[in-house]
Amino acid sequence: MNKKIKKLSNQELIENILIWKKKRDAVILAHVYQPGEIQDIADFTGDSLFLSQQAAKTKASVILFCGVQFMAETASILSPEKIVLLPDLHAGCPMADMAPVKEVKAKIKEMQPITVLSYVNSFASVKALSDYCCTSSNAVKVAQSISKEKDILFLPDKNLARFTASKTKQNIIPWKGYCPAHNLLTKDEVLHIKNLHPQALLLVHPECRPEVCDLADYIGSTKGIIDFVKDNQAKEYIIGTEIGILHPLKKNNPSKRFYPASNKMVCQDMKLISLEKILSSLKKLEPQVKVPEKIRKKALIALNRMMEISK
Ligand code: 13P
Ligand code: SF4
Repeated sequence: MNKKIKKLSNQELIENILIWKKKRDAVILAHVYQPGEIQDIADFTGDSLFLSQQAAKTKASVILFCGVQFMAETASILSPEKIVLLPDLHAGCPMADMAPVKEVKAKIKEMQPITVLSYVNSFASVKALSDYCCTSSNAVKVAQSISKEKDILFLPDKNLARFTASKTKQNIIPWKGYCPAHNLLTKDEVLHIKNLHPQALLLVHPECRPEVCDLADYIGSTKGIIDFVKDNQAKEYIIGTEIGILHPLKKNNPSKRFYPASNKMVCQDMKLISLEKILSSLKKLEPQVKVPEKIRKKALIALNRMMEISK
C-alpha cells in the first residue's frame, strides 16, 4: 500500500530537532549565512572563527554543523573524538574549490622559500600544506605575527589577501580564488545604493572587491559587522555581505534599517541546509565529516597557530 508521508510543519520539525538533539547529546552550530529559521534553533551562531572556537571546546558528543564542508572539516580537525554532522554534503565552497590541493602543492614547490597562509575557506588537505590558517576576522593579526623573512602565499581568496596586505608590512602574494557571492558586488552597484540611502553607513566583508572596500565605512568579518552595528549610533546601514546576515542584524537591532548592497549576494551552498535535513541527520547520525588522521595532524598545526593567536 502506498502510505502518504506527512510533511511536518516548521514548528513540528523544530520540536523534533530539539528532542533528537537531546537524545544525541548534540550541539548545533550555525553560520550567520544560514537561513533565519536555522540560525534561530542553533545553540551558537556566528562567524567562522567563533564557530571553530565553539567546536574546539564543546563537551557535546555530536557537533551538527549548519554551514559548509570546510567548516565541518575544521570542527573535525579540532575535535577528532566527536561525531561531526553536515546535514548536506553537497554544501561546499566554490572559493575553496578554486585552490585544489594538487595545484597548491605545485605552486608551493615552485615558490620556495615561502610561508603559506590559508584562509579557513579551504580544503583540509590544503590546510595540511599550510604554515598558518586564518579567518576573515583574524587574517591581519595572523599575518602580522609571521616573520617578514619570507614572502607569504595567501590562499584561496585574492580579495582577503589584498585587504590583509594593505594592513600589514608583509609581502603577500595572492592566490587567484574569490567568493562568487561577494565578488559579484560591483562599485557601480554600491554607488547606486549609496545614492538611494545617503545617510546609511556602508559595511562590507573583506571578501568583496578592493574597489568596493575602498568605498566602505567599515570592513570586517560577519561578526565584525554585527558588533559594529551593535556599538554604532547610526540608524541606517548598507550591508555588503551574504544576505543571511540580515537576519541577526534585524533581530538584534529592531530600530535600525538595513539595506542589502545587492540581493544577489546569496551563497547557494549555505542555503542547502534545511530543518528537514537537520532532523534526518540527527536521527541517522549521517552524513558525517571526518578528516583522515594523516591530513588532520598536519592541518591541526596551522589551525592551532591561528587559535593561539586569536585567544
Ligand atoms: P566569516 O565567517 O569569517 O565572516 O567568513 C565569511 C564566509 O564567507 C564564510 O564562508
Ligand atoms: Fe564559500 Fe563564499 Fe559561500 Fe563563504 S559565502 S561558503 S566563501 S562561496
